[in-house]
Amino acid sequence: MLDSDHPAPGGDDPRLTIDGRLVVAFVEDEASATALRTGLTALGEGLDVRRGGLRQAVKFFRSLAPVHAAIIDMSDAPDASSGDLQSALDELARTCPPEVPVFLIGDSSDIGFYRMVVHEMGAADYFPRPLTRDTVQRQLLPRLLGTTPELPDARGGRVIAFCGTRGGVGATTIAVNAALLVAGMPQSVAVGQSALLDLHVQDGSAAMMLGARPSAGLRLALEDPARSDALFLERSAIAVDPRLHLVAADETSEPAAPLKQEGVAHVLDVLRRRFNFVFVDLPVPIPHELRLVLRVARHVVIVVQPDLPSLRDAQAIRQAATLAAGSDRTTVVLNRADMRGALKRDLVLRGLGREPDVTVPDLGGRMVEAVNIGTPALTHVPALRRHLQPLVGEIIGLPATGERSLLRRILRR
Ligand SMILES: Nc1ncnc2c1ncn2[C@@H]1O[C@H](COP(=O)(O)OP(=O)(O)OP(=O)(O)O)[C@@H](O)[C@H]1O
Ligand SMILES: [Mg+2]
Repeated sequence: MLDSDHPAPGGDDPRLTIDGRLVVAFVEDEASATALRTGLTALGEGLDVRRGGLRQAVKFFRSLAPVHAAIIDMSDAPDASSGDLQSALDELARTCPPEVPVFLIGDSSDIGFYRMVVHEMGAADYFPRPLTRDTVQRQLLPRLLGTTPELPDARGGRVIAFCGTRGGVGATTIAVNAALLVAGMPQSVAVGQSALLDLHVQDGSAAMMLGARPSAGLRLALEDPARSDALFLERSAIAVDPRLHLVAADETSEPAAPLKQEGVAHVLDVLRRRFNFVFVDLPVPIPHELRLVLRVARHVVIVVQPDLPSLRDAQAIRQAATLAAGSDRTTVVLNRADMRGALKRDLVLRGLGREPDVTVPDLGGRMVEAVNIGTPALTHVPALRRHLQPLVGEIIGLPATGERSLLRRILRR
């Protein structure tokens, strides 16, 4: 929507911004900057053209400035063939709010390249250089002025689903602490904003572990998606960390209404537009209405314990997750690996059908103590941080191995 009611101080042209938010552009060359300024005069002061490329854009998005759309020159980006381009764009996706459409400018006019950045990486559009005023006016301006463009799936926040093979194996513990670690990454790693969604409508324990008290928001949003707009849901999210919001159901004596798939889809959709990472704690067995979480999840983290009942279900859950997702995106966390009475390692491997991706030892009574006092286990039992390092690395796409690994240095603190 255009906001043209505020004439510019001292100027004839009305200053147009889109919903009060800027269109920000980062371009390397003067010709492109001029094409944007002359082609987008309709935006007046709503347009902010800066010098730079992908790197400056990532830095800018860390400031959380309200932005309607971004135009980014990717000529400073690494070569597509090196594979580094993907990680450079991944970094942008982690910092840029998912709802902000990104238009890219580059040197390649190859259709394969266009398809890669638009269809696979989720850019709103791609314009090869030279950028002309005409192209900007005819092709870019209508996209910027139109109603918010449809959000391609690839541009939504990343969903990371957590489920245990059975009750009590530590799924919520792993989900809560992984979310805290990702949200607490230093600015240099650029992970944007995260949400932790506890989909236990009754007896969820994420809030307890974080010492937080949820409102009725999630329950209402799940029951009646028509009544709960994005703002409503955002308001019920509790900030448990500067970059992590908890969305959980309140404790109530009333029996929970049956879950509806459309309610779950709505909640996920709202959160994916607003947050770069959405951590979801799933109940076991996973109700049919929640299977769609597995379908959209980038990672499905399955938490198992080294005992027979847990291992018996591990492969079945992995298969169900793979079937729902269409590919194997499961990560297996073997929790309390050395607990008393644990099965021998070769039996565990046979039961899992593979090496666990992450192994966490039994960290003793202080873990329960942390729950009782409503303090994150990470704070009460600092060793947990180190054990979750490979999981965090996988979630944010940074290698956790090697002495010089950035992640390793951060998490070993
Ligand atoms: N590695 C560990 N070492 C020691 N205690 C642990 C460990 N992991 C989890 N726990 C403890 O085990 C208990 C159960 O953990 P948690 O609530 O995370 O399990 P869950 O799988 O989510 O259970 P539920 O089925 O109730 O949702 C908690 O008291 C937690 O502190
Ligand atoms: Mg749990």
